[in-house]
Amino acid sequence: MTYKPLALITGGSRGIGHCLVLSFLTDTDVLNVSRTPAQETGGSARCEPHELHNLSVDLADVALIEPCLRTWFDAHPDHRVTTLIHNAAVSPLGWLHELSPDEVDQAFRVNVYAPLSITASLVRAARFATDGARVVYVTSSLARPVPELSFACLGLYSMTKAALSRMALVQSREFALTAPHLTVARAHPGIVDTELQRDLRRHPRMDPAFAVKTAGLPPFQAGEWHDRSPKDHMRTISAEFSAEFIEWVARTPDATSEEYDFYHAEEFHAARRDVRHR
Ligand SMILES: NC(=O)c1ccc[n+]([C@@H]2O[C@H](COP(=O)([O-])OP(=O)(O)OC[C@H]3O[C@@H](n4cnc5c(N)ncnc54)[C@H](OP(=O)(O)O)[C@@H]3O)[C@@H](O)[C@H]2O)c1
Repeated sequence: MTYKPLALITGGSRGIGHCLVLSFLTDTDVLNVSRTPAQETGGSARCEPHELHNLSVDLADVALIEPCLRTWFDAHPDHRVTTLIHNAAVSPLGWLHELSPDEVDQAFRVNVYAPLSITASLVRAARFATDGARVVYVTSSLARPVPELSFACLGLYSMTKAALSRMALVQSREFALTAPHLTVARAHPGIVDTELQRDLRRHPRMDPAFAVKTAGLPPFQAGEWHDRSPKDHMRTISAEFSAEFIEWVARTPDATSEEYDFYHAEEFHAARRDVRHR
C-alpha cells in the first residue's frame, strides 16, 4: 500500500461519532469534521501511532466544505479515504406548520447537502483509496415511510433522513456504474443514549406516541440478548455499542446498500456472541 489509510468521520466531537473516532483510531488515522474538535480521550483505546486530525467546519456552510477539504488534503497528500462515515446531524424539532424557512434550510444543509458535498468533493479530488473504500450514511428508522414511525414534532428530522437515505441508494447505483471500488452502506444506529436522543425525549411538544414508544425502551443490560433477539426486545443502547455496530457495517466486506438496522442485524449480534464465547 503506497498511501496512508484515513477514516473520515463527521460529528466526532460527541455521541456516537466520538466513539467511532476512538475506535477507528486504533488502526488508522482519523479526520474528524465537526464544529468542536474531537478529543482523543474518553475511551480505553491506545491510539498511537495513529493520528487524530480535526477539521473545524460548520456543515451548514455547505459552500465551504469543498475548499476546506481540498486545503486539508493538499497538506496531507499521502492520505486516501478508506472509510467515510456521515454521522453528523441536527435534530430540528417542531410541528411542520410552525417551522420557519430558515429552520428547514439549516436542517437540510447539515443533514443532506453537507454529506452530498463531502462525498462528491472526495470523488472529484480522487481522494478515495482506489483499491476499495466504503461510504456509510447514518440514517434513522424515522426516515421510513410508514405511519407507525411518523411522529409529530419529528417531521423535519424525518424528512432530512429520508432524503439522505434515498440519496445514498442512488449514489450506490452511480458508483456501481462508474467507480465500483466505492461501496455505499446505510446504517440505522439504534435508539442511542446521546444528547440528540435526550433532546427528543424532553421536548415539551413531542408527539405523545413517541413518548410511549421510548418509555418502552429501557437501557440495555449486558447479557439481555444472549438468548433473545434484539428485534423482539428493543432497548436504548449506549453510544459505544452503536458505534461498534456502525464500524461493523463499515468493515463488512460484502455490504450492500440495503439499510442495516441495529436491532435486526442478526449477523452482527451473532458475531459479538461468538467473540464472547471464545
Ligand atoms: N441518538 C439516537 O438515538 C439516534 C437514532 C437514530 C439515528 N441517529 C443518528 O446518529 C447520528 C449521530 O447521532 P448522535 O445521537 O450521536 O448525535 P449528537 O450526540 O447530537 O452528536 C451530533 C454530532 O454532529 C455534529 N454536528 C451537528 N451539527 C453540526 C454542524 N452544523 N456542523 C458540523 N458538525 C455538526 C456535532 O458536532 P459539533 O456540535 O461539535 O459541531 C456532534 O459531533 C446522527 O446522524 C443521528 O441522526 C441517532
